[in-house]
Amino acid sequence: MTAPQRPDSVFAAVGGHATFTTLVDAFYASVAEDEYLISMYPEGHELDGAKHRLQTFLEQYFGGPTTYQEERGHPRLRMRHNPYPVDTKAKEHWLHHMRKALDTVKLPPMYDNLMWDYFERAATAMINTPDPLDGRTRLDISASQTDPQTPQDRSTHE
Ligand code: HEM
Repeated sequence: MTAPQRPDSVFAAVGGHATFTTLVDAFYASVAEDEYLISMYPEGHELDGAKHRLQTFLEQYFGGPTTYQEERGHPRLRMRHNPYPVDTKAKEHWLHHMRKALDTVKLPPMYDNLMWDYFERAATAMINTPDPLDGRTRLDISASQTDPQTPQDRSTHE
């Protein structure tokens, strides 16, 4: 059963379900245009399921109905992102689309800031993949391998 909506929640204050629908629609319309990000989505451009999961999660997180929990269980968001290689570039792309989506819903600054702070922190927490070695050379790598402080060398000499 869906829990009663809290009248003092961020969910209610920003306009409830209609606002989250606009936000998530705008976000995914923008993600769908982003080749780098969309290639990670298991169902490709079939985004209805992904939209529903993100929307119910955000509604719940901001104090609205607990539909996400009822359908998916505990969020465990970091774990649920393990199959996808989230690096700094993916985080920046994700946040770019979310910034545009938040601009679409035009919330009062207090709520815009509150939600944006959360998105920035959550997106950083989702990083699970080191950045590629852009611009670094094999020499940099071999230098670190001969560093006596590396775990490999330590274990050899223990
Ligand atoms: C940092 C960059 C991020 C990337 C690249 C990313 C990517 C993805 C992908 C590829 C999926 C699978 C889509 C699907 O549900 O079928 C997913 C699921 C999801 N993401 Fe993200 N995500 C990111 C950050 C975030 C953040 C910051 C949040 C929350 C504020 C979030 C919330 C979710 C939720 C709720 C799901 C569905 C989880 C489930 O129930 O299975 N993601 N994400």
